[in-house]
Amino acid sequence: MVEPEVLPLLRDRRSVCEYDEAHDLGLDELTSLLEAARWAPSAGNSQPWAFLVGRRGDAAHQLFAPLLAPSVRRWAPAASALVFALHQVASGPEDDATAYSDYAAYDLGQAVAHLTVQAAALGLATHQFAAFDHDGLAAAAGVPVHWSVTTGIAVGRGVTSELVPRTRRPLTEIAYGARFGTPL
Ligand SMILES: Cc1cc2nc3c(=O)[nH]c(=O)nc-3n(C[C@H](O)[C@H](O)[C@H](O)COP(=O)(O)O)c2cc1C
Repeated sequence: MVEPEVLPLLRDRRSVCEYDEAHDLGLDELTSLLEAARWAPSAGNSQPWAFLVGRRGDAAHQLFAPLLAPSVRRWAPAASALVFALHQVASGPEDDATAYSDYAAYDLGQAVAHLTVQAAALGLATHQFAAFDHDGLAAAAGVPVHWSVTTGIAVGRGVTSELVPRTRRPLTEIAYGARFGTPL
C-alpha cells in the first residue's frame, strides 16, 4: 500500500536517543525553537507555558542532568540542550496574574509540538521525556507552586545510526465518524 502523504518533517521526526556531542546549540537556533513554541495557539491566548533551558556545559544543564532518571541519563545529557516544559496549574497570586485555563496542558503540548517541528526544520533532533525528578527539578529551579514541570525535551544533532522503525495504531482505531469506535 502506498503511504498517504504527510509533511516530510513530521514523517521523518523520531525520538532520537543518540546525539552528537560535538554540536552546540547556537543562541539563534535556541531562540528559533522558543519562538516556535511562543507562537502556538492557546485557549483565550492564555499562553500558559514556560520553559527552563540548559545548554550542555552551562550551569543550568549541570543542575538538570543529575535529576534525570537513569534510563534518560544514559542519552539525554549528550544532547546540546535540555529544555523543560512547564504549564500553569492555577492562577498566580499577583493581581495581574494570568488566569488558569483548563486547557493549559493541552496548550503546552501544542507549543512543544511546534518546537519539535521547528527543530526538525533546523535539522535538529528532539526527544521528549517524563522520566526525571519532577519535584526535585521544580525545587532546584525555584518553580512557583502554580506551575508544573511537565516534560523534558532533549535537543541536538541526532546520530541516525540507531534508527528503528516507528509504529502507530491504525487510523481505524483512532478516527471515527458519528459513533465512537466505528471507523470513519
Ligand atoms: C509526554 C511524553 C513523555 C515521554 N517520556 C519518555 C521517557 O521518559 N523516556 C523515553 O525514552 N521516551 C519518552 N518519550 C518518547 C516516546 O516514547 C516516543 O515519543 C514514542 O515512543 C514514539 O516514538 P517517536 O517519537 O520516535 O515517534 C516521551 C514522549 C512524550 C510525548
